[in-house]
Amino acid sequence: KASQEAQRRGWHLYLVGGAVRDLLLAKAVTRTLLIKDIDLVVDGFHKAADVGAGVELAKALQQIYTTARLEVHGAFQTAALLWHKDPELDSLWVDIATSRTEFYPYPAANPEVEASSIRQDLYRRDFTINAMALRLTSPNSGELLDFFGGLHDLEAKQIRVLHANSFIEDPTRIYRGVRFAVRLGFHLEPQTEEYIRYAIDSGVYDRTARENGRAPALQTRLKAELKHILEAPYWKSALQLLGDLGALKCIHHTLSLDENLLRQLRLLERCLRRYDPQGTLIHWQMRLEALIACLASEYRGEVAKNLQLPDDSIHRLENLAKARENVEKISVLPENGKAEISPSQVVQLLRQYDLPMLILVAVQSSRTIRQKIWKYLTVWSQVQPILNGNDLKKLGYKPGPHFRQMLDDLLAATLDGKICDRFEAEKFLID
Ligand code: CTP
Repeated sequence: KASQEAQRRGWHLYLVGGAVRDLLLAKAVTRTLLIKDIDLVVDGFHKAADVGAGVELAKALQQIYTTARLEVHGAFQTAALLWHKDPELDSLWVDIATSRTEFYPYPAANPEVEASSIRQDLYRRDFTINAMALRLTSPNSGELLDFFGGLHDLEAKQIRVLHANSFIEDPTRIYRGVRFAVRLGFHLEPQTEEYIRYAIDSGVYDRTARENGRAPALQTRLKAELKHILEAPYWKSALQLLGDLGALKCIHHTLSLDENLLRQLRLLERCLRRYDPQGTLIHWQMRLEALIACLASEYRGEVAKNLQLPDDSIHRLENLAKARENVEKISVLPENGKAEISPSQVVQLLRQYDLPMLILVAVQSSRTIRQKIWKYLTVWSQVQPILNGNDLKKLGYKPGPHFRQMLDDLLAATLDGKICDRFEAEKFLID
């Protein structure tokens, strides 16, 4: 339908980007493919008014597919149609853009000019394997437009950038390149790797940092890439490659993948498996928080804010150092006749923190502390006082604010093994 509508208006329509790459890959391994994200480019128009072609085509399609939602971005350039039944299974996103070249003032159709327009659109893209187009309109519908050797690179299993400045212009492409390499089992083509290293050596991450305040678009894209990577099954290999390339500097110039960070990430996974078996926490975000937590404490909040993490996450990272210092107290060992800190004191100390904070603290702490946090989360935090408010009333105590203290005292005595049944609890209250 899209190609018919475009054809009727005398335009060309192309499928571009990731869908073409994935179609070719699926064909190579005779695999079925579910494409949820389709990028179309309209090209080949000859009137200035047609610069809004992508939007016009999207509107026309929405008249046909009335269940689709239409979104228009920017003044003219792009529109999207969304089918959004089930976010996981049934969603389909179709982006329709107008070829990103200036309108050319030639009165007549000129195939070379047309070709150069879609060529230029493709040339602005990140990697050769993402810069191919499949023509959807006649003549030559079904033709693959591969100006930069994308097919060759798919066969050679390599990620190759289109031009030397690509990573300087958009440092998040470093993360994309790594993501594609690891996800597809490809390698970074040597020259491309050199460009990445050059971009990092030349301080491209400074730009990411500098633009934080006034132009957060780069940070938004960086966060999206981090999410993509950290929620994928291949996140460890991707992080390793980013670390090898020195690309973690884009998050903060002091961040590198050293033994300490790797150890903390391993511990984090163990903690998530133990403390969050139902997967109620957002694991990719916890991984990102663990990365940021490895920075010196004065940088953590700022980096979390720049990446536009949610408020609770920013708050956690800002307060992590204080929380760690506080939690350290539970590791005090018995000395000079002083007793080891009691379970009720541990509960008292830890209950002010949420699960993600305790996980971040555990990841950075000694084994003794981790074991106490584990005991707190799995046993002590579940313990209830033997009597409740109603029991106190039945026992003849007058309700009031002092009930809270009485119940807290009962809970502490239960936790510390001083009372273990109702009889002992009642006696405890009288004493
Ligand atoms: N693109 C780009 N530079 C970026 C982001 C995107 O050149 N920083 C181009 C690429 O041609 C890419 C297309 O925009 O193929 C669509 O981007 P996106 O949907 O993010 O990526 P996909 O290639 O479709 O990858 P995925 O399968 O992971 O969605």
